[in-house]
Amino acid sequence: MSISVELAEDTAPTGTGAPWWRQAAVYQVYPRSFADANGDGVGDLRGILSHVDYLADLGIDAIWLSPFYPSALADGGYDVADYRDVDPRLGSLADFDELVTALHAAGIRIVIDIVPNHTSDLHAWFQEALAAGRGSAARDRYIFRDGTGPDGSLPPTDWVSMFGGSAWQRVADGQWYLHHFAVEQPDLNWGNPDVRADFVRTLRFWADRGVDGFRIDVAHMLTKDLREPLPTQAELERLPRDGQHPTIDRDDVHDIYAQWRAVFDSYDPPRTAVAEAWVDAARIPLYARPESLGQAFNFDLLLADFDAAQFRRIITDNLELAARSGSSSTWVLSNHDVVRHATRYGLPRPDRLDDGRPARRHGGDWLLSGGTEPVLDRDAGERRARAASLLLLGLPGSAYLYQGEELGLHEVAEIADGQRQDPTFFRSSGADTGRDGCRVPLPWTGGGASFGFGQGGSHLPQPAWFADRAVAAQEADPESTLALYRRALALRHQLQAAEELTWIETGRADVLRFARPNGWHVVTNFGAEPYPLAGSEPLLASSPAPAGTVPGETTVWLPPYANRLG
Ligand code: NOJ
Repeated sequence: MSISVELAEDTAPTGTGAPWWRQAAVYQVYPRSFADANGDGVGDLRGILSHVDYLADLGIDAIWLSPFYPSALADGGYDVADYRDVDPRLGSLADFDELVTALHAAGIRIVIDIVPNHTSDLHAWFQEALAAGRGSAARDRYIFRDGTGPDGSLPPTDWVSMFGGSAWQRVADGQWYLHHFAVEQPDLNWGNPDVRADFVRTLRFWADRGVDGFRIDVAHMLTKDLREPLPTQAELERLPRDGQHPTIDRDDVHDIYAQWRAVFDSYDPPRTAVAEAWVDAARIPLYARPESLGQAFNFDLLLADFDAAQFRRIITDNLELAARSGSSSTWVLSNHDVVRHATRYGLPRPDRLDDGRPARRHGGDWLLSGGTEPVLDRDAGERRARAASLLLLGLPGSAYLYQGEELGLHEVAEIADGQRQDPTFFRSSGADTGRDGCRVPLPWTGGGASFGFGQGGSHLPQPAWFADRAVAAQEADPESTLALYRRALALRHQLQAAEELTWIETGRADVLRFARPNGWHVVTNFGAEPYPLAGSEPLLASSPAPAGTVPGETTVWLPPYANRLG
């Protein structure tokens, strides 16, 4: 194992002198669906290696690699059987090292996923815990309890798993273990010193191999206060999320991250981390502080409509939150857990609860109908997605992009029940179709076996309409969404400035305009009526924009120079 290329502290030509991650464009690779080099229908590390030039041409600063570890795939790889190895179906540690070297040589950093809340039930520790029996040291690494009812045949509590059904599973000797996600994902006991020590070993294992940073899965749920009597589900839901909640967002989770921070900072350059923490907005800075993980995802745009007022509020609030933590903000429109944003924006707006959240999973009904009801306006969805993405890439902070969004991909609804993989589908008895539709292998070519994904088919079915969306087709089209992302990412490097923006009032509720400190302006027209723009020739536009106007549902970037004139 050797990493030959060390990247400079700040390779982004931003001139800001800030650490690379503060305003990086990070591209999420879901490895089983990116590219398949060995033709077994499942994407692999050599598949990614064969497309490093594509990633370099795209102009991203880093990839975030979703789990590639040995896994029975009960939850798309987020059920990890061995944290310090590569799934043999995806390659080997030697392939991983080669990938890191190739990415670094191309100026691209690599962030990997760490899944510390739960292991796979196939992890050696869990197998040991099953064999060792009740009261054993091996069981103490997980959360085992006796059941209730006269013979202990009822679960310890009525807690519900995030994927539906009971959060407890009974084992052969009658005890129950806690799993906040799938049955195959037993929660670890973070009160156990073995668990703490082993994750430090894992972080060092990958940092020593040249990994630049870590995305921390379910970062807000590791520590738990499980003193008896345990609350009911209803009580859990009522208890305040103030740092003392029994299972969610506890203050003491930051003791773990303080220890990890010491590990990250023992490297030169320091390794980075970003928290996946679904917590109240006011508590996000705790995860994003430099003493903790250093950055946290802001998921607000995943839940928002294509709407000027919502975008402005979310941007303002999150810049303020980031400033409070000393971190930079993050922006996300799509990832492997949600319906792709081109599709969300092409469907009617969801009904909303009083707190503004969608009443149901946006796109959920459409997926359940097999993509027929309500009617998806594909063109409008992609037009709005391009406008939103161009706005996002103009914001101060880090942009997290999800593979396929640069192709303007829509969610795939055409997946038969028998082909589904996501545990949310099975545990909800089909009431929720799950997340497979955004995890369908990428189309690289307009034809051929699995649209160029690999020689041996595709582990999730690809629809016929992928042909037009393929990389090869878009590379030949200067107006394609791929071409837009490439231009935007290249320009972003040149234009990037200090992490600030100033809102400029437009006189229209459906038009947002902001300026970065160097005079780079971003204007998004969320409405249908064109917005007149005097004196400025756009540098880039998300849809064809005649001079002097921002058409409906379009974002334009105005160069610093033109703004000085205008
Ligand atoms: C969050 C991940 O993004 C998701 O895909 C996974 O199912 C859960 N955490 C459980 O690990």
